[in-house]
Amino acid sequence: MRIYATYNIKGGVGKTSAAVNLAYLASREGWKTLLWDLDPQAAATYLFRIRPRVKGGSKALVHGTRPFDAAIKGTDFANLDLLPADFTYRRMDLLLDAARKPTRQLARLLEPLARDYDVVFLDCPPSVSLVSENVLHAADTLIVPIIPTTLCTRTLDQLTGFVGSLEAHQPSILAFFSMVDRRKRLHRDIVEHLPAERTDIATAAIPAMSLIEQMAVRRAPLPVFSPRSEATRCYQKLWEEISGRHRSGGNRQG
Ligand SMILES: Nc1ncnc2c1ncn2[C@@H]1O[C@H](COP(=O)(O)OP(=O)(O)OP(=O)(O)O)[C@@H](O)[C@H]1O
Ligand SMILES: [Mg+2]
Repeated sequence: MRIYATYNIKGGVGKTSAAVNLAYLASREGWKTLLWDLDPQAAATYLFRIRPRVKGGSKALVHGTRPFDAAIKGTDFANLDLLPADFTYRRMDLLLDAARKPTRQLARLLEPLARDYDVVFLDCPPSVSLVSENVLHAADTLIVPIIPTTLCTRTLDQLTGFVGSLEAHQPSILAFFSMVDRRKRLHRDIVEHLPAERTDIATAAIPAMSLIEQMAVRRAPLPVFSPRSEATRCYQKLWEEISGRHRSGGNRQG
């Protein structure tokens, strides 16, 4: 089982859009895929037309008093399941703090899912919190959307530094450019040059397009309602790059 997390301290950078589209693309290739929406805003849950409700709330999940199977929902798509978020997730930090190993609890909870799933996506809320620290411990790869600005590499270096300081498990990091506006010279320059210089930035980039915002109107992954669009091709390229690195065993950090 391979665990990916869409991760960034910053909000509104394209984490959920990426998690939903990439999870869908993985499932379409035949991988048994689970997306765990960890954000109390429950945007991924909404996009899959699933009610943001977890019986017993996050408490039952985090304390392991209710099996995951009872909370996991099927989506409209083959091979793709969702573990929804609900508003009780806002307290997840407190619940994790009460666990025996507060930063390892999510990794522990995810272990038995390897029986049923090939690929897991964790869609994280934008924050530095105990939830996000748990995600760093649980994930094999962090998929980090970054907007091409002058400071974006600084944010990425800070994250790499933090991950490097973690004991035991260190996920690999693959950033990608998100919301790229080709009308802006700075965006064009950064997107053209940086991926050649840094192995932790994907060559595939996601353009800023109102079509991607339509996911919230259509409530479906982009490749479902716009299979031949440029934006879909970009997510496909991104998924090929992410899954290709895995196959070649490449932890091409740094
Ligand atoms: N490439 C894009 N072009 C245009 N709009 C986009 C793009 N990617 C995402 N959006 C829109 O921007 C908003 C934020 O995107 P998204 O929810 O994916 O980000 P996020 O990082 O998960 O946000 P949050 O931190 O709140 O969880 C949404 O309205 C989404 O539709
Ligand atoms: Mg989100």
